[in-house]
Amino acid sequence: MKNNITISPSLLSCDFLNIEKELKHFSTIKDIWLHLDVMDGHFVPNLTFGPPIIKMIAKKTTIPLDVHLMVTNPGFYIEELKDSNIHNFTFHYEALENDKEIISLIKTAKNHFKSVGISIKPKTSASVLNKEILDLVDLVLIMSVEPGFGGQSFIEDSILKIKQFSKYKKIIQVDGGINQNNIKNVINAGANNVVAGSYIFKSGPSEYKNKIQSLR
Ligand code: DX5
Ligand code: ZN
Repeated sequence: MKNNITISPSLLSCDFLNIEKELKHFSTIKDIWLHLDVMDGHFVPNLTFGPPIIKMIAKKTTIPLDVHLMVTNPGFYIEELKDSNIHNFTFHYEALENDKEIISLIKTAKNHFKSVGISIKPKTSASVLNKEILDLVDLVLIMSVEPGFGGQSFIEDSILKIKQFSKYKKIIQVDGGINQNNIKNVINAGANNVVAGSYIFKSGPSEYKNKIQSLR
């Protein structure tokens, strides 16, 4: 087992009518981030929550918040979230027109968040993230399912992509279809931050800690 692996439970699979209770279930668990999936119904077909709910969550927890923006206009969210104690701000490469826009967005985001990440979808090649982009970001998020929904199966090709980033001294985060059986390959390929939604939440709150432990 490798140390320094962060597990990021994705609240996408939580009980949305009891978010505050859900947060309490994680309050004593160490070395986790809370992954917040923002979906706008444009970049992805699904719709989740936006800044007002994220701000409420931020007031109720001290766990580092990890915002994953599956949205067409990530710039808007910098302004909206900049004073909300968000730890990591990840946007999608595919949401922006060109490298110039991407670099400018990263530089702006870096003024406001401790960590800034860029994500690529399963069909996007690892090579699109050039050295200039990689030098600027703290985190690369490799999507191992098509973004938009929890509970999908891990796409095996993602392993090769993770390996392509493993040489960089970055947070390498993987998101989608993670479970007790495939996490070992994901970590061995070079990931050090793993998002898990349905795997952690499906058995109910009494099992959250055990589920996270089983991933470690
Ligand atoms: C999917 C989201 C994921 C999702 C993962 O678009 O980005 O964070 O919650 O859920 P599981 O772990 O169920 O695949
Ligand atoms: Zn996510």
